[in-house]
Amino acid sequence: MLIAPSLLASDFGKFAREAQRVARSGADWAHLDIMDGNFVPNISFGPGVVKVVRAQTKMFLDVHLMCSKPEVLLDAFCKAGADQITVHVELADKVSDLLWKIRSLGRKVGLALNPPTAISMVRPYLGMIDTLLVMTVNPGFGGQDFIHEALPKIEKAAVWRAEKSADFHIEVDGGINLTTARECAHAGADVFVSGSDLFQKRSLRRAVAQLRKAVEGARAKTAVAA
Ligand code: DX5
Ligand code: ZN
Repeated sequence: MLIAPSLLASDFGKFAREAQRVARSGADWAHLDIMDGNFVPNISFGPGVVKVVRAQTKMFLDVHLMCSKPEVLLDAFCKAGADQITVHVELADKVSDLLWKIRSLGRKVGLALNPPTAISMVRPYLGMIDTLLVMTVNPGFGGQDFIHEALPKIEKAAVWRAEKSADFHIEVDGGINLTTARECAHAGADVFVSGSDLFQKRSLRRAVAQLRKAVEGARAKTAVAA
């Protein structure tokens, strides 16, 4: 079980210090949300900011591109220090080339799908990816409510993973708190992105430990039930 705080919810006025706080929080990955004002109706930050995070920590940087033209950005995010780059399956006929390009750059490969997108859309790519990111809110903003309709998609992906004896991660992103994280863990998720809920707690370290305990407990229960 991996915990990935999203720096979108951090205080941008002291971004480097916030990145250090994440690095020392006991979390596994730092999640970096890149929004281009076109694929989603918001703009966040670019490779220059990812480079600032990279300078603070050696931790795994999980870069989530919510962008219409990731092909023009991959090199820059790679140079900035991304360990994994995730693109969206909604980009349709571009997806295959994008996944190959990320792999050829020597980075881990992620594929995301939005809440309205059917899980069947990702199936052809499952052999090419390290992480499947199941969005549990419509991307663009932090602090939204978890969409429960995503849970059957996580279950389906977990079944496919077991059938293929594949080892891609199933990551969830959006509206993740202790309760929704448990539900996702129960459905088969193993990477938990959380922004607002983690950053609003006084101690990030304690919040990360609490979230980890919650999802590990849910997994243990699922294993007993199986
Ligand atoms: C949403 C982003 C998320 C966001 C999650 O577009 O992809 O990573 O930061 O934030 P919370 O946890 O606040 O829903
Ligand atoms: Zn994200």
